[in-house]
This record gives sequence, C-alpha cells and structure tokens, in this order.
Amino acid sequence: MVDKMIKWIDSCQSTNDEALTLIGDPTYDAVASMSQTQGRGRMGRTWHSPESAGLYLSWLSQPKLPQSLGGAVPLLAAVATAKLCDELNVRVMLKWPNDVLYQGQKLAGILCEARTIGTRWYAVVGIGLNIDVPTGGWPSELSAIGLSEVTETALDRREIADKLVGYLRAGLEEATSEGMAAITKNWLAYGPPLGTPMKRGQQIGRFSGLAADGSLRIETATGIELIHAGDVHIIEEVD
Ligand code: BTN
Repeated sequence: MVDKMIKWIDSCQSTNDEALTLIGDPTYDAVASMSQTQGRGRMGRTWHSPESAGLYLSWLSQPKLPQSLGGAVPLLAAVATAKLCDELNVRVMLKWPNDVLYQGQKLAGILCEARTIGTRWYAVVGIGLNIDVPTGGWPSELSAIGLSEVTETALDRREIADKLVGYLRAGLEEATSEGMAAITKNWLAYGPPLGTPMKRGQQIGRFSGLAADGSLRIETATGIELIHAGDVHIIEEVD
C-alpha cells in the first residue's frame, strides 16, 4: 500500500483542526502549515506559530488499538520526534508525556487529540517543532530553542516533515503489533534518568519510570504515585 501524503498549506488556524478534515481522504493523512493563527498547546495554552519559525504539522491516524490504550499515542509521538532529532545529531530528552527538550529548553511540543465517529476513533498528533528563531526572538516567557541553533545540518522542512510522519507511522505500527510495553521502553530511552526530582502541583518526588498504561510513576515520601495527566516540572532537588 502506498503511503498517504502531507498536505502543505501557507496558513491556517490550527493544523490539528485541518487534520480532522482529512478523515476519509484517500490522498492525505497529514497537514503541515507555514504558520498558524490560533495554534493550540497543551492545557489550553497558545502555541506561538509565526511564519518560518517552526514546522506545524498534524498527522491523522485511525489506531487499531483499544481507545483505552490511547495513552500510547502521545508517547510514541514524542519518541518519533526524538528519533528525527537523532538523525540530525541533536540529542533530546523527553519530559512526560511529550515535551521534547534540548538541554532543558523546549524544542518541540505535541498536542494529541482524539475524535470518535460511530465505532471508529481517530487520533490527531499535532507537533510544533521549533526550527528558526522567530523575528524578534522567542517570547520571553518561553524557554525555547530552535533546531537551527543546535545543528549544523541543513534543515529542509519538507524532508523533516516526511521523516517525522515516517517515524509516527512506524511507532503506531509497533504499538499495534507489540503493545504498550514497546512504546514505554522506547520512551524511557529518551526520558530523564531514574531518580530525577519532579513536581506536579503538590506532588513532589523522584522519577520512577512509566506504568503499564503509560502514566508517570513518581516516588514520593508516601510511596509511588501515578500521574495520568497534567504538567510535570523537573526540579533541582526534593527537599
Ligand atoms: C504543547 O507543548 O503545549 C503542545 C504544542 C503543540 C503545537 C502543535 S503545532 C501543530 C499542531 N497544531 C496546533 O494547534 N497545535 C499543534
């Protein structure tokens, strides 16, 4: 079967919305835009998406996984992005669930959304990959960095997008054939070292791996706690 293609557009509100319009499309399974006017981040945040600063890409899939294993999708998306960075000789670290960091600064963010239609479910993986420093620099509230700041490799957006979608497809195939354990193992290869101090709200502890469903394990003073959603921060030390 021939792979579907990426639809390139100049601008849109959000490529995640555009990707949903591809349900049933025989030709395209991903959308990439040069800019977004209402790029969305996780937790209701805005994703700064000026022209030519980044790659804004959303890939539509119809996972043959029970929706209860939907937690695999954000993790495999992060791994796909990390593998792409490896190809560019940029070694990144993943922060649960799917922040892609280069030396603590954000290189890419991922927003996964699901849509159910009848008995079918679709997953949209939206990836914002920072490439060039935007005119005027990164907004001061962001600790961001672009690929062009950390690699000597010439960066061709179309080539990067094709490779990224290739890694996404391969990751989903692996999740489908081998299950969640393969995905968590891949993620851990790019994750923080075990024992890294972390905080989520009032929960403070040390990174203790991922649970079988992909949730985050933190070892706190009162035992292991599982984090299923939200933002986690890496901190200097557990007091
Ligand atoms: C985050 O780290 O908060 C996630 C950011 C995700 C941004 C990407 S850019 C492509 C796609 N379209 C969107 O509106 N958001 C995602």
